[in-house]
Amino acid sequence: MPESLLDPVPVVPVVVVEELDHAVPLARALVAGGLPVVELTLRTPVALDAVRAIAAEVPEITLGVGTVCTPAQAEAAAEAGAGFLVSPGTTPTLLEAMLGTGLPFLPGTATVSEVLRVLEAGVTEMKFFPAEASGGTAYLSSLASPLAAARFCPTGGITAATAPDYLALPNVGCVGGSWLTPRDALAAGDWGRVERLAREAAALR
Ligand code: 3PG
Repeated sequence: MPESLLDPVPVVPVVVVEELDHAVPLARALVAGGLPVVELTLRTPVALDAVRAIAAEVPEITLGVGTVCTPAQAEAAAEAGAGFLVSPGTTPTLLEAMLGTGLPFLPGTATVSEVLRVLEAGVTEMKFFPAEASGGTAYLSSLASPLAAARFCPTGGITAATAPDYLALPNVGCVGGSWLTPRDALAAGDWGRVERLAREAAALR
């Protein structure tokens, strides 16, 4: 597990796996394209099985489980083999549950008070979500001086075209996004396209 979740790569692909069979080839394509840190979201019935399959067959990946909204989901993700956790927001109970797993995690934040709550828990790396809708680069840039200890992975509405603006900010370590895994590419099993998109994104920094 890398010491920082934000530093190894400029982009963390945010993945929704609808078909269990897609999980392993999709993970391999992202790793081959140079993006070995991946967030697989708990948004489909096969998500936890997809985590198990990838953890077993793609050991070179750093696999995060995202859309963790409850303490039970944090525990289930850890049991399935998650390497780290990501939540869209932060409540005191969710924060405690994620700390309790012993895994690294990126708690979701969108307000100054949420960032302060996360910093109080000793966590300095966090997700900023939904990034574009919450104020984008202008908002994050305003946090850099007063909340200098916080480092962000902004996610939500970011594209290959806007990612460089985020990556230029001093308090952004990487960005997250789903543009690397287009729904039609997954449906067609076009892993070559996923790998190409990953390679372009890996070159953004
Ligand atoms: C997330 O969970 O971080 C977002 O759904 C990803 O956002 P995007 O689809 O706008 O990239």
